[in-house]
Amino acid sequence: MTDQFSVENRVVAITGGSGQLGRRFTSALISRGARVAVLDLEPPGASTAESKSDDMLFVKTDVTRRESLTRALGEISDRWDTPHALINNAALDSPPGSPASENGPFEDFPLESWTRALDVNLTGAFLACQVLGGAMAEAGRGSIVNVSSIYGVVSPDQRIYEYRRADGDTFFKPVAYSASKSGLLNLTRYLATYWAPRGVRVNTLTLGGVFNNQDPRFLEGYCAHVPLGRMADEREYEGPILFLCSDASSYMTGSNLVVDGGWTAW
Ligand SMILES: NC(=O)c1ccc[n+]([C@@H]2O[C@H](COP(=O)([O-])OP(=O)(O)OC[C@H]3O[C@@H](n4cnc5c(N)ncnc54)[C@H](O)[C@@H]3O)[C@@H](O)[C@H]2O)c1
Repeated sequence: MTDQFSVENRVVAITGGSGQLGRRFTSALISRGARVAVLDLEPPGASTAESKSDDMLFVKTDVTRRESLTRALGEISDRWDTPHALINNAALDSPPGSPASENGPFEDFPLESWTRALDVNLTGAFLACQVLGGAMAEAGRGSIVNVSSIYGVVSPDQRIYEYRRADGDTFFKPVAYSASKSGLLNLTRYLATYWAPRGVRVNTLTLGGVFNNQDPRFLEGYCAHVPLGRMADEREYEGPILFLCSDASSYMTGSNLVVDGGWTAW
């Protein structure tokens, strides 16, 4: 019997593969037989088991630059094959601990911060789809996963950051992250219909917040908002990635798979 969830011998390119979730996705895919190209500004860190594996290829890549992605595609194709899957995972966020200049009131939110986030989160995915997705369409097969966030589906609830304002910061979860993550939803739909005749499926994976030793006051506010009552353990996102990169999702395109503990359900 064939395993529909198999990613054995698949070539997967993941942008932002050196970050918290990128490393998790990379190791989940490699441990199930995939070959993974990590496209990131930074290497994943020598301590990870995958970094010593022949099944991982790090290609220093800036997703905001088309020529950097073209070079990455060349390296991946020379070493293995045209990717079977592309995970657009690189992003700039402003987590609760980031500097005040990134998290002020909307009226004063710096244009440079807006442009930087849009460049990486949305334009980076657009360019990676053009370059790597274009090659996948040429090859006549593939699956693209655009990683979004609950804040791309609904607005952040600024009340859960009240503790920062009580401390004297003017913290608001910024608009650029939400707007860029929301843009991915329709980049997905557009490309799903555009590339369906050429065998490339395109879906969004919308994720809720991952536990990462955040401030207990943030955790209290965040978790009260989640029907399951907690943040995600990063391992809980391995299943959705394997599903979307494998034939288990072969009839799925143009969709948004929401894995958020129920955050968007009420
Ligand atoms: N961690 C969460 O709680 C959470 C929740 C919802 C959605 N997400 C989404 O999951 C994805 C991964 O999040 P994470 O927490 O692992 O983020 P992270 O900050 O740990 O990793 C992001 C990675 O992107 C890379 N990157 C940044 N700019 C780049 C560029 N120009 N070119 C190439 N790489 C670049 C960084 O070097 C970093 O390795 C993101 O799309 C994020 O929006 C995360």
